[in-house]
Amino acid sequence: MDKFKIVGGASLHGELPVSGSKNSALPALAAALLTDEPVILHGIPRVKDIATMESLLVHIGAAVELQNGAVHVDARNLERPEAPYEVVKTMRASSLVLGPLAARTGRARVSMPGGCAIGARPINLHLSALEQLGATIEQTHGYVEAVAPGGLRGGNIHFDRITVTGTEDLLMAAVLARGETIIRNAAREPEVKDLAELLNKMGAKIEGAGTSIIRVTGVERLHGAEHTIIPDRIEAGTFLLAGAITNGDVTVTGCNPEHVAALTIKMTQAGAEIENAGANALRARCCRRPRAVDVTTEEYPGFATDLQAQYMAWMTIAQGISFVTETIFENRFMHTQELARMGANIRIEGRQAIVAGEDCLTGAQVIASDLRASASLVLAAMVAKGETIIDRVYHMDRGYERIEEKLAAVGADIERIR
Ligand code: EPZ
Repeated sequence: MDKFKIVGGASLHGELPVSGSKNSALPALAAALLTDEPVILHGIPRVKDIATMESLLVHIGAAVELQNGAVHVDARNLERPEAPYEVVKTMRASSLVLGPLAARTGRARVSMPGGCAIGARPINLHLSALEQLGATIEQTHGYVEAVAPGGLRGGNIHFDRITVTGTEDLLMAAVLARGETIIRNAAREPEVKDLAELLNKMGAKIEGAGTSIIRVTGVERLHGAEHTIIPDRIEAGTFLLAGAITNGDVTVTGCNPEHVAALTIKMTQAGAEIENAGANALRARCCRRPRAVDVTTEEYPGFATDLQAQYMAWMTIAQGISFVTETIFENRFMHTQELARMGANIRIEGRQAIVAGEDCLTGAQVIASDLRASASLVLAAMVAKGETIIDRVYHMDRGYERIEEKLAAVGADIERIR
């Protein structure tokens, strides 16, 4: 099982290139199931979750090929409209095939996603929304079957709570439903908007993606398309924080500054200097311990829950006490125990972490628990005194492409050990 060995103390200087968004690539790959013509996707990051989704598409019957850096999906033959337990247990985002399979083939059989480190992660909202489009939903033996032999019909959907992949699943079902679908309390994440842009290129009729009310007019069929997905805003935010926590000067390239605005505003308040460095680049400099600044995670355009752990790593060395409140997931503080082993002073009270900044952290042996927690441990290790060994970095490989190479290229003392 791979580990990272990191020796803290180096300030990062130079350019950190951002890869394509994992959370945009996953629904884009699922959307390719909606047509019998080839879909070509550019900017797909080579990370574990993408490999898992690609193997799921192949299991379903699609052909998936990497040609000159682009992923070509040909879903003309869908023999097995299902997502088996072996796949779903490793990646709950497999539920993204529910909507497209129900819409394209009239049936979908998907293993119920178990919980994960950060919470129960149910898909009840996905299922109730599909039922409102006319699908019959049955849950037996750990699987959910969505059946719509006569096809789906448009409906009036209101999500009781905002769900990103729930909105995406429903979008991919509604595009082939008969009539109009209105989705209210829809997720406004950039990845939802990016999916809608791909679907409209494929011939769908979607308006309002990126806002909380999305209108879809169903069409008979979709055709092939070519699309470049958006940059990964969570990787971009992680890199900005890497520059700040190491008192460095980094330029994060190939990003969309608007997508990380909630973070950059907080970082500026805490004392980092953030500036635009061209159309799709941000420069982050810091030459001091940060001021303690509170954050509360919210759905987009609020402060991203996927950046909470990384931001907290920075606050562990802040001057003062900060309150980090997690409103999206019920168990997303797994990184705090590991940060505490490095000398961080954090107390958890329900959904709130109270972080009392310390002068410094010290290197230790720690264990990654989930994708974003592992990123926070890397950030802390780069500023800690001495050596840190991070175990189970396979969590990181799920969503960060060659992260140790990118960080080493700007001065981090990090290596992958077996
Ligand atoms: C997406 O997960 C992202 N994953 C997550 O990123 C991200 O943390 C999350 O959105 C929130 O921004 C992908 O896009 C592949 P939700 P998703 O449905 O869609 C509850 C990462 O690190 N809920 O918006 O699964 C749910 O339990 C990952 O890249 C229900 O109760 O999140 C949570 O508390 C982690 N019933 C809240 O809603 C449902 O049917 C928001 O979840 C669906 C969700």
